[in-house]
Amino acid sequence: MANKDLRTWIDEVQAIGEMQHVKGAEPAEEIGGIVDLYQRKMGNSAVMFSEVPGFAPNNRVLANILTSVPRIALTLGLPPTSSEMDLISWWRGYMKNAPTHTPIAVNGGPLLENVMEGDKVDITKIPTPKWHEHDGGHFIGTACIVVMKDPDSDWINFGTYRVQQHDPKTASVMISPGKHGRIIMRKYHERGLPCPVAVVVGAHPAFLMIGGLEIPYGKNEYDAVGGLMGQPIEIINMPKTGLPVPAQAEIAFEGYIHPNDTVIEGPLGEWTGYYAGGQREEPAIRIETFMHRNDPVLMGAIPAVPPNDNTYYLGHYRAGAVWSQLEAAGIPEIKGVCAHEAGGSRMWLTVSIKQLYGGHAKQAGLVASQCLAGAYTNRWVVVVDDDIDPHNMNDVVWAMCTRFDPREDMEMLRGGWSSHLDPMCYDGDTDRRNARLVIDACRPWVRRDSFPMVARSSRELDERVKAKWAHILPKGV
Ligand SMILES: Cc1cc2nc3c(=O)[nH]c(=O)nc-3n(C[C@H](O)[C@H](O)[C@H](O)COP(=O)(O)O)c2cc1C
Repeated sequence: MANKDLRTWIDEVQAIGEMQHVKGAEPAEEIGGIVDLYQRKMGNSAVMFSEVPGFAPNNRVLANILTSVPRIALTLGLPPTSSEMDLISWWRGYMKNAPTHTPIAVNGGPLLENVMEGDKVDITKIPTPKWHEHDGGHFIGTACIVVMKDPDSDWINFGTYRVQQHDPKTASVMISPGKHGRIIMRKYHERGLPCPVAVVVGAHPAFLMIGGLEIPYGKNEYDAVGGLMGQPIEIINMPKTGLPVPAQAEIAFEGYIHPNDTVIEGPLGEWTGYYAGGQREEPAIRIETFMHRNDPVLMGAIPAVPPNDNTYYLGHYRAGAVWSQLEAAGIPEIKGVCAHEAGGSRMWLTVSIKQLYGGHAKQAGLVASQCLAGAYTNRWVVVVDDDIDPHNMNDVVWAMCTRFDPREDMEMLRGGWSSHLDPMCYDGDTDRRNARLVIDACRPWVRRDSFPMVARSSRELDERVKAKWAHILPKGV
């Protein structure tokens, strides 16, 4: 059976009533403007744009994809009725025992419906909106995957890195330090070799999901997507580079990144909510082959002031992944993790624990701030007791206000893994590290028995009152 593809996903989203169709919006500002309004609140529909002025009427643009819990759930193959906690638990389990399937080369499929090489290559035929007013160009890759092969092994890596369109045969890619694509590219360039690269723009959103999260160094993301889908991914080996791309993808191109070959890239409104990265030299992709399905769909996941489509799905992932990595580090009694969306699901982590010993809270906080899923661009880790719901910011701030002593309970870590997208990194050009805080907002371990009692009814009293007085109580208590 062929893999599920973006069109299957669109049908499934349509079936749960979460697809808005828009005809005739122009790509210079209207498409981006509509998407910005949609994604300011989570739970709105995905939006499909067609009849984009200046382009073939059936060349479509799909955005606001993973901004609702039901859409995230169905992308993972879960019931659309799943809750946010179900998603976090699912990711926690997934991280412990992620299934994999090795992809299979079919070297045929709908992606080959239109193949252009040499002078026929023209990526500007795809309607690519200017996503935000102040963007420096058209970003064809926001929900894309960028595929590379390690020159020292058989390792195929893909990651979601933004790709700007510059002219019919030129794109650029911006990969932050420490990301696998940048490490692989550097290996080629240090040997004076061009780095082969393939970009896929429009595939089942499971590819974006896996491309955007921390699959460990040396592991193949296609294996992971296969595990997620429960079947091997059918791939096509691109004609020039041999790099694998999904056979059911909407749009793909391949080419080379030559040593010292850069173009001016950006700015693009980013997931931190700023244009911190600005405009700078980034690696150019010289495109040799371009292919797309008939009536292709460009898929976008647009970064902006959070909440946004770039980071929302990563919140449930990061909560589950940090939870699982804390447990793997041997830290007991982790009761919950929240990666707050206001920090783009990266900059703020709350960890709740049932304290077992002095130093337990600090240990959990320091590991959360440095484990693979938690380290990149983190700024705050707050550790709270297990009577605090880490997803309830009122409770978290209350704990920070009442259980935290700045003399003892705060660790500032310098030189953390960050990016020039972080407006508070040391220096966007020369030193992209940052400083961060780990806050222990748990009751002090040595005062645990004498700490003041909480002024709220007990659970037992709550239940007795609710049973007798439900008819006069406010809804939802
Ligand atoms: C929608 C989206 C866009 C992203 N854009 C970029 C980007 O432009 N550059 C970058 O370095 N990371 C970007 N990321 C984060 C990386 O995809 C993520 O850190 C991933 O782990 C990288 O893959 P790797 O671990 O194989 O390097 C993006 C993530 C998402 C979900």
